[in-house]
Amino acid sequence: MWIDCGIHAREWISPAFCLIFVHYSLSFYNQNPDITQILDNMDVYVMPVMNPDGYKYTWTKNRMWRKNRSSKKNTSCIGVDLNRNFDANWCTIGASPDPCEEIYCGAFPESEPESLAVANFLRSHKDSIQIYLSIHSYSQMLIIPYSCSMDEAENHSDLYEMVKQAAENIRRYYRSVYTYGPGAKTIYLAPGGSDDWAYNIGIKYSFTFELQDRGHYGFLLPPSHIQGACNEALTAVKTIALKVIEKTQTATGPRETV
Ligand code: ARG
Ligand code: ZN
Repeated sequence: MWIDCGIHAREWISPAFCLIFVHYSLSFYNQNPDITQILDNMDVYVMPVMNPDGYKYTWTKNRMWRKNRSSKKNTSCIGVDLNRNFDANWCTIGASPDPCEEIYCGAFPESEPESLAVANFLRSHKDSIQIYLSIHSYSQMLIIPYSCSMDEAENHSDLYEMVKQAAENIRRYYRSVYTYGPGAKTIYLAPGGSDDWAYNIGIKYSFTFELQDRGHYGFLLPPSHIQGACNEALTAVKTIALKVIEKTQTATGPRETV
């Protein structure tokens, strides 16, 4: 499983989730049965901040910055939207070729060091990585492919069942409402995203989570909400990872109890 956080600079709850996920894994392995089963059955790659320059900029200059901080000849506008820079219907409707826009797709797919590095890593590990997960905020949504077109993913019903179950668990445990479904139909058409790209290279369990809240605080989620927001996301990660483990094990026979 791969998890990245902080593709978008201002979505501060996202890097917080990656750190809380690591902390939870280290603290509750052999205490909580779910995380124990997950870590016994898979390696997890965690990238806590995919857009470090943008993230730093939101701490120092502009709290609402979204893109990275790359500069370009012939324009004074800064930054590429890293989640429009992947090679999945790159720069079609839902992205912009204008460097001054928030959803600027970049000069060409993987033009940015951040997206190129992640794409290279995923390409070279795609035979072992089963789950791709990207953490964003806000709106409380569990998104499956596709976001880059209105097409349905080939394993749509599997993916849909997973996010449905995850949302039901969040609702049951935390009384919090998450919507779910394919990106293009659930939020908006947004091509060039990492989730669709990862899906297309063969990582068939690919998700984007939009964490708290539903718009009251938006990107400015107060510190008192961090733990609750991350617990919800953790529930969704567990639900999905356990389901994938179950599926891959029925293919190979159950694991021996030791
Ligand atoms: N709010 C996210 C964005 O605009 C949505 C991500 C969903 N996935 C996607 N490939 N667009 O980037
Ligand atoms: Zn985002």
